[in-house]
Amino acid sequence: MTIHPKSKQASTRADSLPEDYIKYYRENGFVKIPGIISKEEAARIGQRCREISDAAAEQKRSEGGTRKIFTQVVNNWTTDPVVKEAVLHPNITAIAKKLAGVALRLWHDHILVKPPHNHAPTEWHQDQPYWPHGNSSHPISCWLALVDVPADRGSMSFIAGAHHREDLPMQNLGDKRSLFSLAPDLEYEPKLTLPLRAGDCTFHHGRTPHMANDNATDEHRVALATIYIDDGTTYDGRHHIVTDPLKLKPGSRLEGDLFPLV
Ligand code: SIN
Ligand code: NI
Repeated sequence: MTIHPKSKQASTRADSLPEDYIKYYRENGFVKIPGIISKEEAARIGQRCREISDAAAEQKRSEGGTRKIFTQVVNNWTTDPVVKEAVLHPNITAIAKKLAGVALRLWHDHILVKPPHNHAPTEWHQDQPYWPHGNSSHPISCWLALVDVPADRGSMSFIAGAHHREDLPMQNLGDKRSLFSLAPDLEYEPKLTLPLRAGDCTFHHGRTPHMANDNATDEHRVALATIYIDDGTTYDGRHHIVTDPLKLKPGSRLEGDLFPLV
């Protein structure tokens, strides 16, 4: 694993993105970008994400359900202008395109809140096997910290250089052994944990194996993940919460209002 680039600056702009960030992302399948949005933006967007997540958790409780790993709410950009601002943020989308190196469309966003002392890590997995996609080589997720996320508040870890693994079936993010029983070699690869300050993000490729620690602190962990996909990605006919209502024909391109070019 090459050394992760170190920035002396608190913020990172797309038009001056250092080449070593792009090189690191392409080699390893993930990279941390300090200050992709300002602290003020993070506080405002974070507060809104907390409100949306709390309302969803309350709704779930009233229906008798709980979600231990995280409270996940999908495609908030379609209903909330503050989340939309983050999902289509020009600095985030411009950096995503520079890292991926191709034209991108939005796939979806999800608010990911881990409550204090949730005692449940998000176990090792790749994201792409969960998505009903064909013709998708450069999917890229932005995981944006909206509060400070030290290692013990549920920060993410990544396995370097494993984003070429296209051979693995879907892994269970509630099962600690799931990825390693499918790919025993990955257990012995180096792993990097990337704590983030509010306003920092990591980008990871859709096939990069990653996990998030449990939240062992007294504060909520609030993050917004936004996934961008290659322009030209097709629907492969499988079940997914985002595409099910659309009744798409297998083989059709993901495009139009719900999957805008960014
Ligand atoms: C998490 O935030 O807990 C996990 C996010 C992910 O798996 O992409
Ligand atoms: Ni994931």
